[in-house]
Amino acid sequence: MSAPSRLDAEAGSDAREPSVITFDGPAASGKSSVAQRVARALGIPFVSSGLLYRAATHLVAHSGTDAFDQAAVLALLGAHMVELRPDVAGNDVLVDGRSVTSELHTDRVDAVVSTVAGHPAVRAWVSQQLRRVPPPFAIDGRDMGSVVFPGARHKFYLTASPEERARRRVGERAADLAAVAAAIARRDQGDARQLAPAADALHVDTDELELDQVVACVLDAIRASDSGSTASEPQGAAS
Ligand code: C5P
Repeated sequence: MSAPSRLDAEAGSDAREPSVITFDGPAASGKSSVAQRVARALGIPFVSSGLLYRAATHLVAHSGTDAFDQAAVLALLGAHMVELRPDVAGNDVLVDGRSVTSELHTDRVDAVVSTVAGHPAVRAWVSQQLRRVPPPFAIDGRDMGSVVFPGARHKFYLTASPEERARRRVGERAADLAAVAAAIARRDQGDARQLAPAADALHVDTDELELDQVVACVLDAIRASDSGSTASEPQGAAS
């Protein structure tokens, strides 16, 4: 887990976020699909934190800024207006009023995003924007339950084997399995500091489960927890 930033301290880690549901996990673990479906089932907005890191990376790439230069990246972010619009149906990211959402899931962004996201100042910039989103919402990322919303009411940590994650990603983007597996392994390594699960997150191993089953498992866990029930643990879940 990365060290709490100054903004984390200012926000007060004791603050409770009773209507925030967090979904963390590595790349292609299915967390955004699950978070989006759960949000829809509960009638609350879905928020993708990764889109803000991707938008920052998009700006870096298009401006020719050195991704390793934290001060330059921060100055770039200060010079542009980046706005995340959460919705049940999906999220839109506007940079200086123009939607860039369709340009953010590319191999080019994937290759650099961990470097940009590794800067503490960029993490503070993203955290600050996310904490302004009015609850309730379901949010996905890497450190949503551990750092940004430590008081979230429900926290899930989704995992899947590297092979399964590569297979899923190949289904989303026309690409070679070995190349995708290598890119995912590089991103896992780059994101390692952010990937530590919150101590109180419910882990869901999605390897053997279809998307519908993972969503049902999460909704069961939410209902059981909200009703104070200690009913049998949902399939695939382990705390
Ligand atoms: O979730 P997604 O794969 O779109 O995230 C893209 C990248 O953004 C991650 O690989 C990671 O580098 C960064 N990220 C992060 N912390 C988050 C969400 C995303 O560092 N909470």
